[in-house]
Amino acid sequence: MIRAAELIQRKRDGEELPDEELAELILGYARGDVPDYQLAAFCMAVFFRGLSERETFVLTDAMVRSGETIDLGSALGRKVVDKHSTGGVGDKTSLAVAPIVAACGVPLGKMSGRGLGHTGGTLDKLESIPGFRTELALDEFVAQVREVGVAIIGQTADLVPADKLLYALRDVTATVDQLSLIAASIMSKKIAGGAQAMVLDVKVGDGAFMRSLETARELAETMIALGRRAGREVVCILTDMDQPLGAAVGNALEVKEALDTVRGQGPTDFSALVLDACGKLLALSDLGVDEAEGRRRAAEAVADGSAESVWRRWIEAQGGTPDESALPAAPVVRELPAPAGGYVQRLGATRVGNAAVHLGAGRRTKEDTVDHAVGIVCHAKRGDRVEAGQPLASVHARDETAADVAAREVLAAYELGSEPPPERPVLLEVVR
Ligand code: URA
Repeated sequence: MIRAAELIQRKRDGEELPDEELAELILGYARGDVPDYQLAAFCMAVFFRGLSERETFVLTDAMVRSGETIDLGSALGRKVVDKHSTGGVGDKTSLAVAPIVAACGVPLGKMSGRGLGHTGGTLDKLESIPGFRTELALDEFVAQVREVGVAIIGQTADLVPADKLLYALRDVTATVDQLSLIAASIMSKKIAGGAQAMVLDVKVGDGAFMRSLETARELAETMIALGRRAGREVVCILTDMDQPLGAAVGNALEVKEALDTVRGQGPTDFSALVLDACGKLLALSDLGVDEAEGRRRAAEAVADGSAESVWRRWIEAQGGTPDESALPAAPVVRELPAPAGGYVQRLGATRVGNAAVHLGAGRRTKEDTVDHAVGIVCHAKRGDRVEAGQPLASVHARDETAADVAAREVLAAYELGSEPPPERPVLLEVVR
């Protein structure tokens, strides 16, 4: 019998929990023996008290053990790579990276999550594609990585069910932005998903769960250590999330932008990050190339159309309609003109992310359904010069009232000034 209330109290009081009992709490939750309200209280205690390195490892291990695991390397006879982000606004990187890497001949099998808080989730984005299935059986997942070179699925009753449950609970209980919970959530999916090498994109700044470079480095080091214990190669890139990545924020809008990028027509900041991540993934793969050559091959796959062909085959393999014309569109599109001329000093990612959630692109309770069509497109980004009246952004909304609210929120995210702001690159640091 798990004494959940006692464990919550001990964590609340700052104790380090014994391995067995911590693991049993998580496994009991995954089995349905521990109710949501106790796990919610436990997560809040962890939020304030943290987990030791040992507890973080035990939590990750218990989450992996809550379901089955796959050894993609043995199943395919190839080194399989993976990519994951800690969560950001407008972060559709995985959607573009996956088909490009596969087009370069490197298999990519990945388990993703849904939106968390003000950040979007790859599964929600993919589900904006009509027909797309994110719950594949394990043998289907492996067969698709073998045949198409790419598959992205969600946590299921088979694969890391503890993360599926905890993820949804943390999303609506203000317990997302805790280093150990993030590290365990990401690494349990990566370990169970079976890739041998991975690039983890640790977002830093206003719209990220890690606000400072210091905490982002700590998260990177924790995930690298968890990966090492499980025999996985992990490279972390620390990237800017002070402003949304690319232009589109919102599920279908982001899918469209990812497809544009796979075709070589994406926004500059986003395209650069995608090619950089691809270069690192190809360098980790069994192709035997360095990062520069990996990047060159990735750029070539975009330019010669092979990445787009893989996109189509991938989406079709998971039951989706690959044409962008099939994506849902919002009935109201409102342009937001700049109230004055000047340089964009700031474009607050959290504000934009929250505006998207309020439009319906994310969840406020576990039961909420996502409106895949709505969101925001940021036409002007930090450092851009705009004239008064020029569109800063457009809001894609279900109705006029929702557009009014979002318009106010998005305009409040923009700060204009007379001088250009200091430059901040997208790629801030690499931790290996
Ligand atoms: N991504 C995940 O998969 N889990 C988290 O906790 C945060 C981002």
